[in-house]
Amino acid sequence: MSRRPVLLLLASGLLAAAPTARPREYTLPADSVPAALAGPQGEVIVNNCMGCHSLDYITSQPKGKGSQFWRDAVIKMINVYGAPIDPADLDALTAALQTQG
Ligand code: HEC
Repeated sequence: MSRRPVLLLLASGLLAAAPTARPREYTLPADSVPAALAGPQGEVIVNNCMGCHSLDYITSQPKGKGSQFWRDAVIKMINVYGAPIDPADLDALTAALQTQG
């Protein structure tokens, strides 16, 4: 069996992919916001917490962690991972995170 068709396919794939240096736009799937965080009470979380990772990082934490845990988590995201979160949102985030987990 000849390998040439496979090579041609690979080459045409590379050619097709090479010149497309345009910015990509894509829509996140609707279910990327877990039901627990949909709605107005989850808005501050959705706006601040899904730039780097899935919101499952939040909803999969054990329940009943309390406000100190969540306050510390937000501060860690800012200080350790450089999250661009306005410190003025810290109280609102802590309250919202605490009520959902
Ligand atoms: C700048 C990027 C960034 C943003 C924005 C961000 N995080 Fe994170 N977060 C991370 C990284 C990096 C990890 C560690 C990932 C890993 O270990 O796989 C993480 C992990 C976590 C974890 C798992 C426990 C831990 O401490 O590692 C939780 C909970 C969490 N983030 C909550 C939040 C919340 C709440 C927000 C919004 C207030 C947020 N994150 C926003 C980067 C970010």
